[in-house]
Amino acid sequence: MERLSTGIKGLDKMLHGGLIPGRPYAVSGPPGSGKTTLGIHFLIEGVKDEENVILVALDEPPNEIKLNAWALGFDVAPIRILDAVPEVKGFQRGGYIKDVGTVLDLHTMRDVKDIKRSKILRAMEVSIHSVQKMLRQEADDLYDEEGEVYSRVVIDSITALKMFGMKGEDQRILIQSFMRFLAEMEATSLIITQIPEPDDLPSEVFLSRGEIRLHKINDKVESKRGIGIEKMKGSEFDEHIRPLNLSSRGIEVDTKKLF
Ligand SMILES: Nc1ncnc2c1ncn2[C@@H]1O[C@H](COP(=O)(O)OP(=O)(O)O)[C@@H](O)[C@H]1O
Ligand SMILES: [Mg+2]
Repeated sequence: MERLSTGIKGLDKMLHGGLIPGRPYAVSGPPGSGKTTLGIHFLIEGVKDEENVILVALDEPPNEIKLNAWALGFDVAPIRILDAVPEVKGFQRGGYIKDVGTVLDLHTMRDVKDIKRSKILRAMEVSIHSVQKMLRQEADDLYDEEGEVYSRVVIDSITALKMFGMKGEDQRILIQSFMRFLAEMEATSLIITQIPEPDDLPSEVFLSRGEIRLHKINDKVESKRGIGIEKMKGSEFDEHIRPLNLSSRGIEVDTKKLF
């Protein structure tokens, strides 16, 4: 079966060659574990092969992502970045959301007219739908202008979208349809998820075709990072958690050692 490099040699090895193309995968882990950096490696690998790649920024503003990536020596200029960082307009006492808007990059969003200011319960739906619309528009524009498609997509992160959202079945259905949309784009996508979450296993993790999990353990002396494959449909994989090193060279995975 065809394999797609993640851009990280040790991780490709753990995946027995790389990811199976055209499917959505979850990348999970706590804050600071290297999820965004892994996403950048994955996109830069596509850029090397002159693929079209896109990052949907929902957690960190694109200029911060760019600066951090520059510091790691990545030229992120060829990566298309959609700014979809949600802006919470206000909270009422009692904790529920009064009004949630989404700041959408004007350049890419000018043609999308039906983004609504959300009502309390519609916040999640509006956000997922608006991101999906944005991506659709981008994909259509690219196809019209160049006759090409996006082959790699990173959503960073879906946790940000869910923060305002519905729970339970509704959320599961929305995420399922978003994943179907990504698969229909024929892109290989990484859906970044913050773990642990307040509720057990996030929908995107059990609906994805595979999960790469990043670990970060802080003891008194040092902070240790690790990487493991939780699942990978249609493929064998390395079942061990391996040490992950995050330095000015980016992420390196040592497949000879155990975490
Ligand atoms: N140039 C660098 N040199 C060493 N470590 C770095 C560098 N840039 C980022 N890091 C480390 O990477 C971590 C952030 O990684 P990131 O991919 O943003 O994590 P996440 O998206 O999971 O929150 C930081 O906490 C920092 O420790
Ligand atoms: Mg991040």
